[in-house]
Amino acid sequence: MDKIIVHGGRALAGTVKISGSKNSALPILAATLLTKEPCVIHRVPDLSDVHYMLQILNHLGAEVERASGVVTVKAEKVSTVAPYDVVRKMRASVCVLGPLLGREKEATVSLPGGCVIGDRPIDLHLRGFESLGTAVRVHAGDIKVFAPRLRGASISLKGKFGSTVLGTDNVMMAAVLADGVTVIQDAASEPEVVDLANFLNKMGAKIEGAGSSRIVIEGVPELHSAEHEVIPDRIEAGTFLIAGAIAGKEVTITRVNSQHLTAITNALESSGYEISGNNGSLTIQPNGTLKPLNLRTEPYPGFPTDMQAQMCALLATAQGESAVTENIFPQRFMHISELKRMGAAIELDGATAKICGVDGLSGAPVMASDLRASAALVLAGLKAEGMTEINRVYHIDRGYELIDEKLGGLGAHIERVKV
Ligand code: UD1
Repeated sequence: MDKIIVHGGRALAGTVKISGSKNSALPILAATLLTKEPCVIHRVPDLSDVHYMLQILNHLGAEVERASGVVTVKAEKVSTVAPYDVVRKMRASVCVLGPLLGREKEATVSLPGGCVIGDRPIDLHLRGFESLGTAVRVHAGDIKVFAPRLRGASISLKGKFGSTVLGTDNVMMAAVLADGVTVIQDAASEPEVVDLANFLNKMGAKIEGAGSSRIVIEGVPELHSAEHEVIPDRIEAGTFLIAGAIAGKEVTITRVNSQHLTAITNALESSGYEISGNNGSLTIQPNGTLKPLNLRTEPYPGFPTDMQAQMCALLATAQGESAVTENIFPQRFMHISELKRMGAAIELDGATAKICGVDGLSGAPVMASDLRASAALVLAGLKAEGMTEINRVYHIDRGYELIDEKLGGLGAHIERVKV
């Protein structure tokens, strides 16, 4: 298991290229199962989660080729049973259920594993499938869905914590091949859902309204081959903006869509940073003191839960008291105890982290517990005095392409140690 060692205190400067979005690439790759014809996907990030998805497609019978960010999938014939060994490694494997159900009218997938960020049910996905006329059975750790035929329906995906991103993806992927019209109410409006809908439309689907809370899908008999480029990863982009904020002189991120980053740039500007940009790039510069913030995570276009941990790392050294409330995954605070080991003063009050800014952090051995929590620890390490050793970095490799090399390119003193 690799570790990352960060020697803090170096000022970061320069430009970093942002990769394609993990959360777009995974459902888009799953969607290639909807046609027998080949699909070509560009800007697919080189991440372990993507690797697992390609393994699953391969096990399901698809021919998969990959060359520097371009993946070609041809799923002429598919099996409908996704293998437990691979599925258990990644929660997003659940998004093969929708396309298999759409195409073959049945699918069996193990209950998903993945990030340990609290209880992560898939009841809304299953409720959506049931509305389309699907029977759902859970047995021996597997979920089996099957239907003689799928019928368009009106479906609400509203849950206790709002809508569901992968649930919206899954229902959309099943409904594109259903008979009649499906209306998804309370759909997730994240840019990754829009990216998937755009890809499905290129394949011949008829989807309108993606990006709003009401998506209308007119079923078609079959889909065909398509070529698509994945959108930039807004969470990687946000993480590098915070790297610039926490330790930067001037950091520029390129190949981004700044519209997808508004909640993040607004928060950083409110805490005292200057952000400028044009044509797909953004530059962050410090501008005086780091001010505290009151932040709440919310569905898009609100502040993303996937940036909450990184923001806590930044606010740990703000001048004053910040409050960060987690509205999507109320238990997503594993990074707090590790940040405290580095000298941060943070107390949890329910789903709110109350952060009392300290003058500085000190390096320490810490443990990565989930993907974004690991990123937060790397960011804290850039700011801390001395050496921070981050263990269990396989979490970070699930979602950040070459994070150590990219930070090294900005001047960070960071190394990966094979253990
Ligand atoms: C996706 C992202 C993840 C991000 C999350 C929220 C991918 C691969 N992952 O995860 O990075 O943090 O969106 O933006 O795209 N819920 C239910 N029942 C369900 C499904 C979800 O109650 O059937 C709850 C969840 O526990 C959570 C909330 O709904 O509280 C949102 O989860 P959801 O949007 O489904 O997250 P994912 O799509 O799994």
